[in-house]
Amino acid sequence: MKLTIIAAVAKNYVETKGYPIGKNGKIPWHIPEDLKRFKQLTKNHAIIMGRKTYESIPKNFRPLKNRLNIVLTRQKDYFEEGIVIVNSLDEAIHSTELLYSAAMEILIHRPAYIIGGENVYKKAMPLTDCLEITHVDQVVDDADAFFPKIDEIWKEIKREDHAGYSFATYVRR
Ligand SMILES: NC(=O)c1ccc[n+]([C@@H]2O[C@H](COP(=O)([O-])OP(=O)(O)OC[C@H]3O[C@@H](n4cnc5c(N)ncnc54)[C@H](OP(=O)(O)O)[C@@H]3O)[C@@H](O)[C@H]2O)c1
Repeated sequence: MKLTIIAAVAKNYVETKGYPIGKNGKIPWHIPEDLKRFKQLTKNHAIIMGRKTYESIPKNFRPLKNRLNIVLTRQKDYFEEGIVIVNSLDEAIHSTELLYSAAMEILIHRPAYIIGGENVYKKAMPLTDCLEITHVDQVVDDADAFFPKIDEIWKEIKREDHAGYSFATYVRR
């Protein structure tokens, strides 16, 4: 199963932590074009996320529609209508494979998108083939959630620059 990470990151890389992605449970910017791109890319795919990221989506917008919402938690009794609840990343990947193949064999070739937050990105990074990163031209101080370093094993294959942000696609070298 192919995994793609999708994230929006601030420009101030913090040594030993990473690129800021969140503060007080929220994404520290509002970029409608980035939300549009997120929607376009993830539509009709599985999205795998941590419980806190899921709960940061306003109640009337979750589960995110037209996507298979897979939520990671260590809680055994967690429940919300309309989502797949899993207790590990392995289980998330396995459940996605099963659900894709049960729906239609052709779906198995689609990537599942890893949509955050910090620990889910960290855990998924070594298993991922592709990164869809929005580089936000902002410095975020006092962030409390970070994205890992994008080192030389990642090759940038596409970049679209806009005022205030850039969309970049990376694949493994
Ligand atoms: N900029 C971006 O692109 C972006 C994207 C997503 C999120 N964010 C931001 O990131 C922040 C949230 O990130 P976060 O790291 O604090 O939380 P998170 O990863 O969204 O959620 C953490 C929770 O997920 C569950 N979990 C994580 N890894 C697990 C594993 N391997 N196995 C089982 N359960 C696991 C645990 O839930 P339980 O506690 O229920 O056990 C854990 O407490 C927010 O500020 C959010 O806005 C930013």
